[in-house]
Amino acid sequence: MDRRTLLGTLAAGAAATALKADDKDKKGAPMPMANANADYAARPFDFGAGLNGLSKDLLAEHLTLYKGYVTRTNALLKDVVAAEKEGKAGAMVQELRRRLGFEFSGMRVHEWYFEALGNNGGKPTENHPLHKGIVDTWGTWDAWWAAFKATATMPGIGWAALVKDPMTGRLMNAWFQDHENAIPVGAQPILVLDVWEHAYVKDFGATGRGKYVDAIKPLINWSVVEKRY
Ligand SMILES: [Fe+2]
Repeated sequence: MDRRTLLGTLAAGAAATALKADDKDKKGAPMPMANANADYAARPFDFGAGLNGLSKDLLAEHLTLYKGYVTRTNALLKDVVAAEKEGKAGAMVQELRRRLGFEFSGMRVHEWYFEALGNNGGKPTENHPLHKGIVDTWGTWDAWWAAFKATATMPGIGWAALVKDPMTGRLMNAWFQDHENAIPVGAQPILVLDVWEHAYVKDFGATGRGKYVDAIKPLINWSVVEKRY
């Protein structure tokens, strides 16, 4: 498989996973069927007075960046389909498809990230199957978190993720390079953490990614995360 085919496969896997993760709302109820060809709308994440430990400026900037992914996803979808309808198959449309994988994935991972953040994050439920799965895999919850934090502080631009292989239930810490690369194909995201520099440098400095991860820890809304498992 060449690199481009592989990237396309990974993007398809991410898209399929997104459908699984998004077909329920936060309370677990099925979402109404959308028009498959409608534009994506930026979701209205409202953090009220802000999130503890993160500045309002950082949060506002991040939400603006998220809206950019939504806008560019919609534009690229139109451009790609228009080119395909015209029978175009050359390098230009091939690059548009590659860019669509980046922008769509950037949109969707931000949604998974924002929807699981809040000041009332709470703690993981000890008798929830996710807790058992983590302990079965890493030995202790703290050992998993240490491994997750180590994932989140890897050099590079991307996302730390806790994912589940839906075919076996196996949990894995994964690194999403950029937004769409190196994702275990078909893996179901349980928890994602943005570690692009825009997510933390304003508040914690270029060397402060570990402090940012520590600040995010109490903001994780486990009731949202556990519903994804
Ligand atoms: Fe981001």
